[in-house]
Amino acid sequence: MADIKGQILNLLRNQGDVVSGEVLSRELGLSRVSVWKHIQGLKEAGYVITAAAKGYRLIKSPDVPFDWEFSGWRGRIHYYQKASSTMNIAREMARQGCPEMTVVVTDVQTNGRGRMNRTWHSEKGGLYFTLILRPVATPQNSPRINLYAATILAEVLRRQYQVDAGVKWPNDILVNGKKVAGILSQMEAEFDQVSYLNIGLGINVNNDPTPYEPGAIALGQLLGQPVSRLDLLKSFLDAFETNYPTAALRQTVDRWKRLSVTLDRSVKVVTPRSVTEGVAVDVDANGGLIIQQFS
Ligand code: BTN
Repeated sequence: MADIKGQILNLLRNQGDVVSGEVLSRELGLSRVSVWKHIQGLKEAGYVITAAAKGYRLIKSPDVPFDWEFSGWRGRIHYYQKASSTMNIAREMARQGCPEMTVVVTDVQTNGRGRMNRTWHSEKGGLYFTLILRPVATPQNSPRINLYAATILAEVLRRQYQVDAGVKWPNDILVNGKKVAGILSQMEAEFDQVSYLNIGLGINVNNDPTPYEPGAIALGQLLGQPVSRLDLLKSFLDAFETNYPTAALRQTVDRWKRLSVTLDRSVKVVTPRSVTEGVAVDVDANGGLIIQQFS
């Protein structure tokens, strides 16, 4: 079903003009009535499609990450209008054995979580998703994959939106010193092998994070105009999948270092168990931060 909606949208977009019901039904191998029903489904989902004697015309698409919008990822995108937290849904799916590179994405989270058990305010306009991975990795070397996700996002932001995005260890994405996105990861392992690694990304896109986080900013605020969450998610996922896992495991640390706003600075690293202060001098091969402590 989702696949047919994707195909209809492709035909309407490629044509950029009116496409007759006859052409659609011939191309898709469906009856005219069946085409009409799928068009109705798209309209109900928020697409503006006009129907006239000559055929159908796509006027406007909603900025919603429906599965059918992701060619190459179809069947792997699980979209919810609202969720408690995409981490909870993804954990259940991972435990049930869903395939690697399954994505859980939502418009709003009622119980969004950040690192250190903080609340991640997740209002409409932001992009909130969790990517389920099954890396051949030990729990010790899997932090590299988090750095890979942060690196990919910063690179996409720089390339596609020309903002000066940098990465702050472990997983924040900053532009001009303000936080645009955060990453939370969760994993389960058996013996030395990771069973799943879920990477959750919260990106401030068209929401206003400043009432809760004065040190945060949204991409739309930086650019002075709304940004398509759908395009951003597509670009991130495609870039992530390219050369994964080879690049994720081999070149990430170097790529991350090039984008780092952490190295050679004084840092205070707070974990649930400790607080360490010093100068961040390097990142090790597993993605751990090396700190020269103040004496
Ligand atoms: C942080 O900077 O503290 C990490 C924030 C991670 C937020 C994302 S939003 C999608 C996923 N679901 C959650 O509840 N949290 C992560």
